[in-house]
Amino acid sequence: MPVYSEKVMEHFMNPRNVGEIENPDGIGEVGNPICGDMMTFYIKVKDNHLEDVKFKTFGCGAAIAVSSMTSEMAIGKTLDEAMKITPGTVATQLEGLPKNKLHCSNLGAQALRKAIEDYLNKNRAQGGGKND
Ligand code: FES
Repeated sequence: MPVYSEKVMEHFMNPRNVGEIENPDGIGEVGNPICGDMMTFYIKVKDNHLEDVKFKTFGCGAAIAVSSMTSEMAIGKTLDEAMKITPGTVATQLEGLPKNKLHCSNLGAQALRKAIEDYLNKNRAQGGGKND
């Protein structure tokens, strides 16, 4: 049995920002090849900031806590700042994860990054930001 920090347990029991955003500006979906778990992040962007972030995670407790923490860390940040969120910074904010659960922490930052890239790609395709 892995021993989770109180912070992990708290985010697992009360995950923040669970759900879907209607008409999101970006979507990022990732799967964990080790366990087959899945995570999707939805973002709403305004003035180059993440106005809202929501997620759906079909995964273990650590993955749910990681998604919750990643979303909390991301909301309000600029896109550049949010791109700098890493599995390591998320795990640190969660006061650590058991070694055999560290792979679960990769999903959050990856899914968030993908959602931001999705937004940037769409904007590029449109030839400019719709929030300009
Ligand atoms: Fe699948 Fe943790 S065991 S993400």
